[in-house]
Amino acid sequence: MKGVILAGGTGSRLYPLTKVTNKHLLPVYDKPMIYYPLKTLIDAGIKDILIVSGKEHAGGFLKLLGSGEEFNVRLTYEIQDKAGGIAQALSLAEKFADKEKIIVVLGDNIIEDSIKNYAEQFEKDDSAFIFLKEVDKPERFGVADLKEKKVVSIEEKPKKPKSNFAVTGIYMYSSEVFQIIKTLKPSGRNELEITDVNNAFIKKGKLKANFLKGYWSDAGTFESLFHAAQLVKNKNYNSL
Ligand code: DAU
Repeated sequence: MKGVILAGGTGSRLYPLTKVTNKHLLPVYDKPMIYYPLKTLIDAGIKDILIVSGKEHAGGFLKLLGSGEEFNVRLTYEIQDKAGGIAQALSLAEKFADKEKIIVVLGDNIIEDSIKNYAEQFEKDDSAFIFLKEVDKPERFGVADLKEKKVVSIEEKPKKPKSNFAVTGIYMYSSEVFQIIKTLKPSGRNELEITDVNNAFIKKGKLKANFLKGYWSDAGTFESLFHAAQLVKNKNYNSL
């Protein structure tokens, strides 16, 4: 099984912090943001990891992480020329995945739990896995419509969320995901949406939702970046 960290996008919500650097190179308390998704994958036992970044600051990732030797993993890099959405960034991982199953983590997602057990279950399962977390402001996220703990659909940033369960930025997919991405149409914000990918798996009856127990935060807004740093500090997060 291989890992993919999606660290493209424009980081526009963090401007001017992102004027001269990439969002995922910014600090979250005492470490660069990308260390956290990297740790999530390493703790799950993944040794072969692709980092997809925008072209503007790609050199920063190389300088920071190099070949991955320091972390005992092999790192590969891919460039997303334009911020065409999370699913478009993921499409760039098709060759790297080489038909193997993949665990995808968004570069601004920080979680407390280890996903090792889930990764082991996923390896034997025929379904894609997503991870839900109850939040106060679901309208900022992909939101699950749940019927008896089963996700019947997901809505991206709905005005009237059908639940308080956000879809976090951790996804486990078979290589089928790349065929699904090829069928997607750009959304209203002109992006290929990961929510559309997950809805396609739901339609096939192949999506399993898991519930994260420990804390989860993204770090893509000033509020959430600050909150993530506090969580890391207060919980004595054991980073890389
Ligand atoms: O954090 C979880 C949420 O992430 C999910 O609940 C949503 O369903 C999902 O759409 C996403 O929402 P955001 O609006 O927070 O996504 P954002 O545009 O901030 O992108 C999140 C990460 O994805 C970003 O840190 C890097 C990567 N990305 C994003 C875009 C748009 C790329 O690699 N390329 C891109 O073009």
